[in-house]
Amino acid sequence: MKIVRAKNYADMSRKAANIISAQVIMVPDCVLGLATGSTPIGIYAQLVDWYNKGDIDFAQTVTVNLDEYCGLDQSHPQSYRHFMDEHLFRQINIDPKNIHIPDGKAADTAAECRRYDELIESVGGLDLQLLGIGHNGHIGFNEPADAFSENTNCVTLGQSTIAANARFFTDPSEVPRQAITMGIKAIMQSRKLLLVVNGADKKDILQKVLFGPITPQVPGSIIQLHPDLTVIAADAL
Ligand code: GLP
Repeated sequence: MKIVRAKNYADMSRKAANIISAQVIMVPDCVLGLATGSTPIGIYAQLVDWYNKGDIDFAQTVTVNLDEYCGLDQSHPQSYRHFMDEHLFRQINIDPKNIHIPDGKAADTAAECRRYDELIESVGGLDLQLLGIGHNGHIGFNEPADAFSENTNCVTLGQSTIAANARFFTDPSEVPRQAITMGIKAIMQSRKLLLVVNGADKKDILQKVLFGPITPQVPGSIIQLHPDLTVIAADAL
């Protein structure tokens, strides 16, 4: 595990964007696992900036996002697809057919989860997975549970996750209660993991994730077992 202490949010974002851009420059047709939440916004802004300067080319890059809310259409302003379009995809030259996000509106959720795992397999797995953590230690939307969820699955969001994500909605009652998330297996099989954490409010959970017991009650704790994990933290160590 490599732990990098960033000076502040901008520094965390630039350092993480450096790692992602190096991946894309070295392997233009790589598979990037991407994340949402407020933490990666600065990373995406930095990548867009370098793209505009001609330093990175995403023409061959494949992206696979971690998760999506159930019941939200792609065009819904709080859907993760919309988030990704706004912060990254619309601003770079990625080929739309190379963008993958679970379909939160799929009529058959179980079939959608299976399709997503097959898709990840068909692109050869992930080269680099970007991760954030929730205050309860979730990665993607893998919430604390009695066992790790191996495959892409439909989760019922915990109260603390609903409360944490309510800030993005006009009313807490609008936060979807379920989401489809990539499972722990695909995350752990990613050839590289990049965890970004920002803010003193994540200090306690980051300690548990990186140094506490490995337990499904703190789903992110499993990344301690990953052979190529980089953690970039600002004000959280
Ligand atoms: C959401 C996402 C996670 C993300 C987490 C933290 O629940 N599903 O992938 O890591 O939020 O978000 P933030 O970066 O806003 O703290």
